[in-house]
Parts: sequence; structure tokens; C-alpha cells
Amino acid sequence: MLTESGQRAQRTTPAEIPTSFAPRPCRIGAFFLAIPAMQAGLAGYSDMAMRVVARRRGCPYAVTEALLDRVLLAGGRGREKGSVLCPEDHPVAGQLLGSHAHEMAAAARILLDCGFDVIDLNFACPVRKVMGRCRGGYLLGEPAEAIEMMQRVRDVVPGPLTMKLRRAVDESSAAADNFQRIFEKALELEFAAVAVHGRTVQQKYTGLADWTFLRKLKSRYPQATIFGSGDVFTAEDAMRMLMQTGVDGVWIARGAIGNPWIFRELSALIRGDALPPPPGILEQRQAILEHYALATALYGEDQASRHMRKMGIKYAKLHPQGAVVWREFIDVRSRMDWQGVLDRHYHQDGPGIRPPSVPDAQDMFRGCGLASEACP
Ligand SMILES: Cc1cc2nc3c(=O)[nH]c(=O)nc-3n(C[C@H](O)[C@H](O)[C@H](O)COP(=O)(O)O)c2cc1C
Repeated sequence: MLTESGQRAQRTTPAEIPTSFAPRPCRIGAFFLAIPAMQAGLAGYSDMAMRVVARRRGCPYAVTEALLDRVLLAGGRGREKGSVLCPEDHPVAGQLLGSHAHEMAAAARILLDCGFDVIDLNFACPVRKVMGRCRGGYLLGEPAEAIEMMQRVRDVVPGPLTMKLRRAVDESSAAADNFQRIFEKALELEFAAVAVHGRTVQQKYTGLADWTFLRKLKSRYPQATIFGSGDVFTAEDAMRMLMQTGVDGVWIARGAIGNPWIFRELSALIRGDALPPPPGILEQRQAILEHYALATALYGEDQASRHMRKMGIKYAKLHPQGAVVWREFIDVRSRMDWQGVLDRHYHQDGPGIRPPSVPDAQDMFRGCGLASEACP
């Protein structure tokens, strides 16, 4: 939705949300989710640390970032990093990215052995390097290859299997047909759920996600479990996606980075309660400390300090002196630097602020030191 001046219009106002809306129960296989929402796959972000921080604040289900099948097959550190789980981190899906059906099937087995509850296939990633290697969004345009992969993975995964798609590769009718073939094959193979990002692969992250597409898809396939993705930056957005499209669940991506409270806020809205106030400063401090401790367990102290910089600048958006805190998080290199920012800015309680309802797209990538092209 663009206004005449080309600005993004805000999608939701709290007044638009009726108090009587009750979403259908949402399940992935045998797992019933307490709220119809999940922590999305986010390369460079949605590791075990981010997932656990979100779960402690009401997130019922999560998926890893896209894990390259060949890295898993090669074993070693790469395999460990993405596939580390902990008892708090269930149910959880391991998301696979690959280009050959037999490698994907073998990697799926590895993820099952690691303890993943669900295997998720990524046919959505628009990054040029990924597409160029015949992975991710490339497969959405090659239904025969995608279907062969789905079939081979289905053969080795007895439990729930899910898939991440975009609404098409581009706006052509051939691309729409390809989506349809892959989606219907997923139903035939009894995939437990399909998450659909309402942008085309060609769009990458520009323009708005097409929620009308999600609504039409759900009304055409009422029996399928569909998660909607795209432009969910606040709990009100998530609520509105549920109401306007009828999808079974919301895939919360950029809206959860630095704001794990979005899950508890959505819980409140679903119960018919008022939107809770944003977390206070000491509550924010607690979440950042938890996140840091989990990241340290995952990566060791040095790497965790660097990794947490990109998380810190997202958490800063909820701080009343966000710009100052953001600047200081950028400079963090060590545990002592971290402690310094927390001691200066998070030592005294006070009200937090709501993060912006429409994040700056480039800003989402800036913190991880990667161009948007480099992030799936
Ligand atoms: C930095 C970044 C990394 C992403 N990594 C993944 C990924 O690994 N797997 C995946 O399925 N989607 C990935 N996505 C796509 C998101 O999960 C989501 O579908 C997309 O951002 C649209 O939702 P949003 O507009 O609410 O953020 C990524 C998106 C961003 C911005």
C-alpha cells in the first residue's frame, strides 16, 4: 500500500482490531501452537539464542535460518553452529537450502538426528548467489526439480515437513502456475504447513507484500495450514494479517528482531486484551543479558560480542534514547563494552518506546555488516 506521495501507509491502527476475533487453533503436525505465530527464519539472526529469547516471551514455534545442505553433509563447525538446539527450543524446524534432491534428503536426515522436530524446505530465498547456485527461489521457478526434491525428502522424513515459498518468481502467469504446482504437490505429500511470503522472488524486499494473494490462497485451500509472511512489524500487523487473510499463522520475521515482546503482545491481542505497554528499560536489559548469555554459550565470548552488536542496535529501537544507544552498540567489541552500554543506559527503569511500525529496509541489513544481497 503506497500513498500518493510514495510513502508506505501504516497498515494497522489499534482501533481497527475488533476484540471479538478468535483465530482457529494452529498446528504443525502433532504440535498445537499456543498462538498462531512463529519466529521466522532469518539468516544471521534466528539462531538458538534469538529463538530462546523469543520463546521466553510467548513464541510457541520457531525455524532456523536457512542451513546449507552441503555444510551439514560436510559436518564440522558449520554444521554445529546452525543445528545447535537446547531443551527450551522445541518444537523447532530446521530449514534446508540446497540444489540436489539426494543431498537435501541426506541433510534432512542429519537434522532429524540432531533433534529437529520439523524439516522445512526453502524455495524462497531471492539472494543472487543462492539463486545462481540453483537453490532457494530458483527452485520456485523449476517445479520439476522442486517436486523431485520434495518427494525425496518426504521419503526419508516420517514426521512433519514444511516449506517456505514466495508467491511466485515474478508476475508472469507461468510463474503463477509454477507456484501452484509446487503448492499442490506439498498438499499431496501431506506437508504439515506452507509459509508464503507475499512478495515475488524478483521483488526481493521492495514494495509491499501482497496480502490479497494470501487471502485468495487460503480461501482456495481451506484445508491447508498456511503461514503468511511479509510486512509484519508489530503485533497489530500480525493480528490484522490473521483477520484480513484468514491464514492459519503468522511468520514473524523482521518484526521480531530486537523485539521478542511482539509475541506476548500478539497473545494479549488474541485474548482480546489491550496492547501491553512496551517493555520497560530493566525488562529490556534482562532480555539483552539473556540473549548475550545464550549467544556466548553458542559462539564463545569474542564472537558473541561481535554477533550481538547487530542485535543490540535492534534492541536500541525500544529505548527512549534509541539513537544514542544505537551508536554505542555499534562500537561494542567486547564483553566489557557490552557491560558499559548496559550500565550507562539500562541501569535505571523507565518506560520503553514502541519500535517503528515500518523499519527502514536497508537498516535491517546494516547491522550484520552485510549488503542486503548477502542475506537470504
Ligand atoms: C536479514 C534477513 C534474513 C532472512 N533469512 C531468511 C532465511 O534464512 N530463511 C527464510 O525462510 N527467510 C528468510 N528471510 C525472509 C523472512 O523470513 C521473511 O519471509 C521476510 O522478511 C518477509 O517478512 P517481513 O516483511 O515481515 O520481514 C530473511 C529476511 C531478512 C530480512
